Formats: sequence, structure tokens, C-alpha cells
Amino acid sequence: MRDVAAIVLAAGKGTRFRSERAKVLHRAAGRSLVGHVLEALDPLGLGQVLVVVGHQSDAVSAEVTATGVGGCATVLQPEQRGTGHAVQTAVPHLADGVRRVVVVPGDTPLLTTEWLRRLLEAGDDGGGAMLTAELDDPTGYGRVIRGGDGDVRGVVEERDASDGQRRIREINAGMYVFDRSVLDEVIAGLDDANAQGELYLTDVVARLAADGRTVRATAAPADVVAGVNDRAQLAEAAAVLRRRHLHRLMTEVGVTVTDPAATYVDVDVEVGADTELLPGTILEAGTRVGNGAVIGPDTHLTGCDVGDGAVVHSTRGDDAVIGAGANVGPFTHLRTGTRLGDRTRAGAFVETKNAVVAEGSKVPHLAYLGDAVVGTGVNVSCGVITVNYDGAVKSQTTIEDGAFVGCDTMLIAPVTVGAGAYTAAGSVITDDVPADALAIARSRQSVKEGWAARRREHG
Ligand code: UD1
Ligand code: CA
Repeated sequence: MRDVAAIVLAAGKGTRFRSERAKVLHRAAGRSLVGHVLEALDPLGLGQVLVVVGHQSDAVSAEVTATGVGGCATVLQPEQRGTGHAVQTAVPHLADGVRRVVVVPGDTPLLTTEWLRRLLEAGDDGGGAMLTAELDDPTGYGRVIRGGDGDVRGVVEERDASDGQRRIREINAGMYVFDRSVLDEVIAGLDDANAQGELYLTDVVARLAADGRTVRATAAPADVVAGVNDRAQLAEAAAVLRRRHLHRLMTEVGVTVTDPAATYVDVDVEVGADTELLPGTILEAGTRVGNGAVIGPDTHLTGCDVGDGAVVHSTRGDDAVIGAGANVGPFTHLRTGTRLGDRTRAGAFVETKNAVVAEGSKVPHLAYLGDAVVGTGVNVSCGVITVNYDGAVKSQTTIEDGAFVGCDTMLIAPVTVGAGAYTAAGSVITDDVPADALAIARSRQSVKEGWAARRREHG
């Protein structure tokens, strides 16, 4: 559809959001509101996508670029004088070959590619088309006014509506397609004679109707067209987006989700077949989970990569890699730069940061591994700490293949425990331990015979 362009309206402040940040930058299920709209447009392969920016234009433009959706350009609307004015600002930037123009708001994250296609089909035969919806509670939306013949006569904004008009439950979704020629003709003539003193894009519909040209209204489901004007609507939209994504994972991929209402998976997260997501699981920021894994309960992973068959429960992970068949948790904190190899174990009250643990190694409980490189088949016993920070610099600990680090060993970095070596429990290791050696670094026990009995007698 190279001869179709889209104009995305994203210049408004979003007063009802009560935020320092422009509304379209707020995120739902891991993606900005404007990002959701651009993702819905992307598969259409339009010739041009113009995003109208204004309030916090630099940040919104940066977000448009960050979405990675190709072919988007921004147009600056320096003053936000209404949706009609936003389109007026964009029209001169339409490319020569454009015949039709889709106009969509930047605050409708539930819009789908499928409904955009239906909108384009409805507007196929000239003039224009718009999406509407029947809502139980139409508060806040423009109402669709139809004539006795059922044709759309116009849209009345809530603030301009009479009591009778407010009772209309058919609302304007703010999503339209117009022939370019029609837009060129009508858009310049809008006026601001309304309650908000703005140029309303909705007036285009009335002007076309008055001219005897029909704008076809296609009814779409409420949870496709819903706009997000405040944070209550943001939460509702995010819930719908998560539900849709989980539904896709369950029905198209084969993921088991015990309780979708208690599972929070961002739309950019991929999960493989036969993986189970237990309640309290939060997967964010492009986390990938392989096949046959078990995640949760109560596990929060951000930007993580989890291999096939891994079991991860009651765990927090940030930018961590968890290998296939690894077993993590409960109460484990995998911080940035953690890479657990295949079939590794990181158990209760283990914290790792910038730590690479190779295949088959175990850190079963109560340990801190920071700036550490751990080989294969290593056992890091209970209470081991890599002492990586001297208050000024961070240093690395290396534990080579097959080593056994005894309970409560302090490894004062930089230090290396050689392959197959042991450290005795309670050791403070300040020097490298050669391969296959035993290092004992603790004071000898002295025993005072009868001491306790004497104390009891003499107080
Ligand atoms: C608009 C429609 C309303 C419809 C609703 C659907 C108008 C006058 N009203 O109302 O009929 O039911 O959407 O969600 O069109 N924007 C700009 N520049 C501006 C003003 C707004 O780019 O000068 C952008 C906003 O950033 C937003 C979008 O346009 O993304 C819609 O604006 P908003 O103020 O949210 O309009 P609504 O009151 O929701
Ligand atoms: Ca809106």
C-alpha cells in the first residue's frame, strides 16, 4: 500500500494524565502508547508514516526512532491547537504519490493491524471511512450523529454535546481514512467555534456529510478502539494487551499459564512451547524463555535469556542469561552480567553480578559472586563471598574447572582458585591457590579443657 500514508497524532500533552511526561510516552505492557500504534501500522507497508509531535517533541521523536518501526518521519506542531490543526500541519508533508491518508491518534494502543485493514477496505470507494464503537460508558468520547437514513452526519465532542447527544453510545474512535483530495479540500477550512476553542478533526466528517459525501462508519470492538486519556485507562489498556499476548502464547505457541490474570508478560517477550508460567511471574524488556521451562511463582525477569528446560522460581533477574536445564531459586538475585551455563544451580539467597558460571557448576545457597569467572563442575559452598570491592576498585575472582570452594570462604579478589583445588571451610583466601592444592587460611582451634565447668562453678 505504497500510495497510502498514515498521520499519527502525538503532539498533545495529555492533561488528564497529570504527568510531567508526554502521554504517548507512557508505557503499557512494555511499549509506549505511540509505539503500539506504530507497530499496528507497520505490517501494512504504507508509503509514508508521519507522526505529529509537539509537547516534548524531542523525547517523542526519540521514542519514534527507538521503536525501530521503519519509514516514520516526524512533523512538528509547535502549538497544539487541536486534532484538526495537527492534521493541517502534517498534510503539506505528504509525498506526491499518496492517494489516501489514514489518520490515527497516538493514544490508542489497542488498535490492531486487522482493524486498520478493515478501515482501509471500508474507505476504498472514495470519500472517507471511520471506526466507531458502541460503549456501555461513552464518557469522554465524541459521539457519532446519524441522520434518519442511518448515514453519519457528524461527530459531537462530549463538551459540545447536548444532554440528548450525550446519551448516544456510539463513539468516534478517532481513526479515519480519507482520500487525499478530500483532505486537501476540507482540512484548511476548519474553525475553532467549539467549547475547547480548538480545530477539531471530527468536523471534517460533518463537512463531508453536508456536501453529500458519505463517511462510512465501521463498528469495531471497544477493546480495539479504546483511547487512553488517564492512568485508569492506561491500566485497563495494559491489561488487555497482556491478555492478548498471553492468549497468543497459549493458543499459538503452547505455553501453559496457570493464571493469566496474575501473570505479567510484556508484548515483546517470547516464550517457547511447553513452558509453564506460574502465578506472580513478571517478564519484561525483551526477555526470552525457551521450551519446556518452568518460570515462577513470583519471578521477575527483565531483559533475561532463559534456556530450554530451566526452572526459575521466586527469582529476580536483570539482563541475565540462564542456561538450558539450569535450576534457579528460590530467593535468588541475578544481577546484570550474570551468565549461568547449562545445568547450573543457583539456589536460595545467592546473589550474582557480572558473574559467568560455566556448565554444571553449583552455587546452592547463601553466596555472593561478583566479578567472578567460574569454570565447569565447580562447587561453591554455602556462605562463599567474592570480596570484589576494596572501596575503590572492583577486582575479579577466577575459580577454575572442578574446584571446590568450602563453606564460608572469603575470596579476596583479585585471586584465582586453580582447577581441582579445594579451599577449607572458613578460609580467607588472599593468594592464588594452585591447581589440585588445598588452601587452609584460618587460625587453628585451641581447646581449653574444663573451662565451661569451671565457669559454672565460680560464676
Ligand atoms: C478525540 C476525538 C474524539 C474521539 C477520541 C477517540 C477530536 C476533536 N476528538 O478526542 O471524537 O472520540 O479522540 O480517542 O478529534 N493531538 C495532537 N495535536 C493537538 C491535539 C491532539 O497531536 O493539537 C493528539 C493527541 O496527542 C492525542 C490525539 O491527538 O494522541 C487525540 O487527542 P485527544 O486530546 O486525546 O483527543 P480526545 O479528547 O480523546
Ligand atoms: Ca484521546
